[in-house]
Amino acid sequence: MARVLVTRRLPDGGLDPLVGAGHELVERPRDTPLSHDELVAAAGAVDGIVCLLTDRIDADVLDAGAGRLRVVANVAVGYDNVDVGAASARGIAVCNTPGVLDETTADLAFLLILAASRVASDAEADLRDGRWEGWGINQYLGRDVHGAVLGLVGYGRIGQAVARRATGFGMEVLHHARTDTGIPGYVADLDDLLTRADVVSVHVPLSSATRHLIGAPELARMRPNAVLVNTARGPIVDEVALAEALETGTIFAAGLDVFEAEPVVHPRLLAAPRTVLLPHIGSASLATRTRMARVASEGVRAVLAGETPPNLVG
Ligand code: DGY
Repeated sequence: MARVLVTRRLPDGGLDPLVGAGHELVERPRDTPLSHDELVAAAGAVDGIVCLLTDRIDADVLDAGAGRLRVVANVAVGYDNVDVGAASARGIAVCNTPGVLDETTADLAFLLILAASRVASDAEADLRDGRWEGWGINQYLGRDVHGAVLGLVGYGRIGQAVARRATGFGMEVLHHARTDTGIPGYVADLDDLLTRADVVSVHVPLSSATRHLIGAPELARMRPNAVLVNTARGPIVDEVALAEALETGTIFAAGLDVFEAEPVVHPRLLAAPRTVLLPHIGSASLATRTRMARVASEGVRAVLAGETPPNLVG
């Protein structure tokens, strides 16, 4: 029997693989985050960690665990919060949760495409705050989604799931990825895609190569009617540059589910026009979050049993 730290409360059933294997779970008495110091202190006394994207698993945590800790499983597909290189150097496996959240996240990306294009947040805010004085022919004039050109930045599982939805809306779909996908609609040059798309949706992981991938120069290349959607990771988009682009009308609208310094949202984005902002809920359906927890738990169980799980990232 091994000891596994679970950094936050997970959906019911999410820990079943570990419970079934008879492991001891070290759970939080209340659903509050561990401070980084608490995480470091806890890491030394466990064989596995099931953590969330809000937990920073850096060299300090991994050093504290080294010798006993065998696996860290992040309940997310993105794992930029885990220093995978440092984990590998200490012989600690890292797992994530690919494959189970693609459709749910693509649903939310599409929600943002629709809501931002149709200025839904500004319109709803006016209605709720009593500013709507009745139907007007020039009110809340958005951009049509049907017939528009969708430019996907990144064409992994989630990008492809968004593409499937876009086809149903009669959109033309282009995609950019670092290596040629060989699939119709591939655009080798990001700038080329940005100049051609009416809607740009970001689906790349966060890395040193993608931090501020969409900054002032890229926003300047986009069309004045363009809508930018980000459901990947906040730091991929330069928020100050985006706020500026929305304020000056360089682009039309934005739909964001992720932010550079979550849970802080840049005040200029909060005030920016034609902007739909959601609190990182891309994968937030009960079924999907439960599946994510189970996949992460199963990864820990497998590593502790000496198996190689399919969701190993390092
Ligand atoms: C992920 O899995 O990386 C998402 O951001 C969580 O919804």
